[in-house]
Amino acid sequence: MTNILCIGAGYVGGSTMPVIASYCPEHRFVIVDINEARIAAWQSDQLPIYEPGLDEIVRQTRGKNVFFSTDINRHIAEADIIFVSVNTPTKTFGQGAGRAADLQYWEKTARQILENSTSSKIVVEKSTLPVRTAEAMERILNSNNKGLHFDVLSNPEFLAEGTAVRDMQKPDRVLIGGRETESGQKAVEQLVEMYAHWVPRDRIITTNLWSSELSKLVANAFLAQRISSINSISALCEKTEADINEVADAIRYDERIGRYFLRASVGFGGSCFKKDILNLVYLCEHYGLPEVAKYWEQVVAMNEYQEARFAANMVTSMFNTVAGKRIALFGAAFKANTNDTRESPALEVCRALLAEQADIVITDPYAMENACSDLRELAERVTFEIDPYIASKNAHAIAILTEWPQYTQLDYEKIYDSMVKPAFIFDGRNLLDHKNLYQVGFNVYPIGKPPLTRLVNMS
Ligand code: NAD
Ligand code: UGA
Repeated sequence: MTNILCIGAGYVGGSTMPVIASYCPEHRFVIVDINEARIAAWQSDQLPIYEPGLDEIVRQTRGKNVFFSTDINRHIAEADIIFVSVNTPTKTFGQGAGRAADLQYWEKTARQILENSTSSKIVVEKSTLPVRTAEAMERILNSNNKGLHFDVLSNPEFLAEGTAVRDMQKPDRVLIGGRETESGQKAVEQLVEMYAHWVPRDRIITTNLWSSELSKLVANAFLAQRISSINSISALCEKTEADINEVADAIRYDERIGRYFLRASVGFGGSCFKKDILNLVYLCEHYGLPEVAKYWEQVVAMNEYQEARFAANMVTSMFNTVAGKRIALFGAAFKANTNDTRESPALEVCRALLAEQADIVITDPYAMENACSDLRELAERVTFEIDPYIASKNAHAIAILTEWPQYTQLDYEKIYDSMVKPAFIFDGRNLLDHKNLYQVGFNVYPIGKPPLTRLVNMS
């Protein structure tokens, strides 16, 4: 039996470890966190994150070979392998503020591991970190005079929220970076063995430490770049009567371009894309590559433009004013099938409309609690309503901001009847049947397609 510890019981720690444990019944997994409420939630029937399929896996493994705890020091001492999946947000102060990764949680963890270790261990970076962070981690850990040796590995996580369980069960690849020393390679092999319980060997890629750390940032940068690219073209489509879905389909059949991540939208959100690209930008600047930095920075700038453009288009289309108008936002989560609202474009659009003095009502099947907490400084000006029919009653407009499939099943005739006329739908996800909505009576504004409206000349 190997004692495996994961420090950080957030989205990554909490969803990866139970899945790994379900394939490795002979190993013992403990997941620890400084946040007591979070650990209590992981121990309860009301898990702290909504992730399809996760409840069942946690129920199957918890108390057998998966344990949640706040006793970090004791479990560090007992562990053979320690995964570190603490948060690494963008720094908000000092050098590199707004770009560099804030490594304070990560460094505290490294020191805590050192203080509480009485045996040599493998320490695995699961968090997303700047390239060459492992070097600093090795320096801290191996600065001990207890005769202990720590092998630091990089094993970045590629799961996406909403599909975390499936992504873990059937990963496109597992990436493990390690030192090319004998003990480094032995550590890599031990981790490979663990994943090989269910992942085919040819999908387990091993590299040097720096390639592994950098590949994680690059993977996210490339994915986000595709969204910014298609969103930039959506703006051109709106000027030229080309249809972004048709353009995306026309290019995705080219295997060199590929099928995925070509859905135009109000913008990408989530805790990682923006943070990781800004981190990449900072690294490029740090290493004296300003042109490369500027290139990647534009991916974030384009996303901010898309969010702002969407909100501005709403105002312009509604006769240049939304002041005092009730607007229902359908969706607060940054994507469907998650309750996560971090960097959600829905909240950006919400803030932009509030600046125009609109009356906002937000509805979302799972993310209302997080949205409410994110918007707490604006709480008096926003209403939360779980029922989309009630949310849209007496509204001038609906904005679809999260692609929840339940929004395709609503009775839009009933919704239309209850709204102020002329009624508007702004579909920030191109989710709904626009022709049908137009026939019902709505003025419909998709992304990257001509609007279907009887008001063109008036506006
Ligand atoms: P999160 O904020 O949900 O969770 C991090 C947890 O670490 C928190 O519960 C926090 O209390 C805990 N923590 C912080 N310092 C600690 C300490 N010293 N000791 C114990 N616990 C501590 O973050 P997340 O979304 O799980 O992301 C974690 C890392 O994984 C980040 O680097 C992120 O970039 C990366 N990542 C995230 C995703 C994702 O989908 N969320 C996917 C891939 C990679
Ligand atoms: C993303 C990556 O997909 C994961 O591989 C990575 O591990 C993770 O970031 C991370 O490092 O945190 P995630 O942010 O959970 O995962 O979700 P995605 O499916 O990538 O979507 C991100 C955002 O892009 C969402 O707001 C989504 O709606 C938007 N998106 C996605 C589009 O607007 N269009 C698309 O075609 C695809």
